[in-house]
Amino acid sequence: MAEELTPETPEIPETPEEDEQPIKQRKNGLYPGVSDELTENMKTGWADTEQHHLQPVPQASYTAARRAALSARFPGERLVIPAGNLKTRSNDTEYSFRAATEYAYLTGDQTEDGVLVLEPKGAAGDGGHQATIYLLPRSNRENGEFWLSGQGELWVGRRKSLGEAEQLLGIPAEDVRELPDLLRGLSGPVRVVRGHDAGIEAALTDKVTAERDEELRVYLSEARAVKDEFEIAELQKACDSTARGFEDVVKVLDKAEATSERYIEGTFFLRARVEGNDVGYGSICAAGPHATTLHWVRNDGPVRSGELLLLDAGVETTELYTADVTRTLPINGRYTELQRTIYDAVYEAQEAGIAAVQPGAKFRDFHDAAQRVLAERLVEWGLLEGPVERVLELGLQRRWTLHGTGHMLGMDVHDCAAARTEAYVDGTLEPGMCLTVEPGLYFQADDLTVPEEYRGIGVRIEDDILVTEDGNRNLSAALPRRADEVEAWMASLTG
Ligand code: GLY
Ligand code: MN
Ligand code: MN
Repeated sequence: MAEELTPETPEIPETPEEDEQPIKQRKNGLYPGVSDELTENMKTGWADTEQHHLQPVPQASYTAARRAALSARFPGERLVIPAGNLKTRSNDTEYSFRAATEYAYLTGDQTEDGVLVLEPKGAAGDGGHQATIYLLPRSNRENGEFWLSGQGELWVGRRKSLGEAEQLLGIPAEDVRELPDLLRGLSGPVRVVRGHDAGIEAALTDKVTAERDEELRVYLSEARAVKDEFEIAELQKACDSTARGFEDVVKVLDKAEATSERYIEGTFFLRARVEGNDVGYGSICAAGPHATTLHWVRNDGPVRSGELLLLDAGVETTELYTADVTRTLPINGRYTELQRTIYDAVYEAQEAGIAAVQPGAKFRDFHDAAQRVLAERLVEWGLLEGPVERVLELGLQRRWTLHGTGHMLGMDVHDCAAARTEAYVDGTLEPGMCLTVEPGLYFQADDLTVPEEYRGIGVRIEDDILVTEDGNRNLSAALPRRADEVEAWMASLTG
């Protein structure tokens, strides 16, 4: 960003209307004052670009159904769900904005500072809710906000007008700058989704309790467990883009060898930004012994022929649904004998795990199935003393299996994280749920309890599995998993 282009003036032209909000200016501008002539000049000569015949966003009917379910769960209660605000990265630059999951889920909107309010209808609280979305409107051109404010449209781009937002989202829209005062003036209890908008929370301090707000958060987490048709299509898109991103990486492994893991991260990121919104989480581009570090996101290490690359990455779609996929690839295209032995064990564990993803099964079943296979192999290899039942009972395999075998997936990579235990880890799988199945084996480079040749090898295989009426569907099946198929796929991409 060129600093000399920062919009700034020490003087703001007087606001023409007394009740208008003051313009929030950026700091450190280099320009002196603005002449009256320029101020007048900038007010006029702009075309009317208002759009009057917009089609609703594709998920509008789904977000309406989600709001109806929320309304039914909290009859007679005022509910406030903020999108969140920009966060400062340094001085006057901000991190790229990603709307709060709860807000995007209920509105289909993703703009910063937005707030969804559900106002109960009917005196007895039995009339459902009136939803209103509060947004920053188009910039005022009369008072100079348009070009003098850091949030002016001339600097940050055209916003939807409130009328356009109404057409697109199917929700009446109002000016969010009026919301804090409106909330402060209300009587009666409110529930708010915390952690996204400090200004909105400050306006509600005397009307909320932590316990009641937590109930709202938990509800919105559990409500997302079963995906609707729109969400399933988005997750499939995310997986398809992710598969293309993995292919991109395989094609440039030689360039990664000449540079570092960063080449892999950057290559996958390009696919994520072109086809989606972003990556759904920091890509884990772990070559060689880094594969044994579960959340290796520094990605600054060497990529060496003869070693494995554990790539755990997912594209987040433009509507904010993410894939979460891992493949462990031989950097030179061929697994060594020991790499293949370990890989095959993880593959068999994953097969057992995926087979256990069934409607009506307990959530824990797929984890138990995968862990059993891994424990059996560890006993066979002489790394653990049997019998397998004893190993499982004492959890001894966990020195090398390290993590749970999977989690819910959706708008958040670890979706539904606020759900109650009985609704999630102790719960039952239902059609429409989507989860990862991702067993792994990790032998740390400094683990003296395994033979030297095992040390520094880490393998994980992770796929995104949708529970269907009669079993499951692997949404990430476009990427091969079996060792020989992985090798053939890599050969086909690298010629
Ligand atoms: N990528 C994080 C996970 O697999 O859970
Ligand atoms: Mn993952
Ligand atoms: Mn995962």
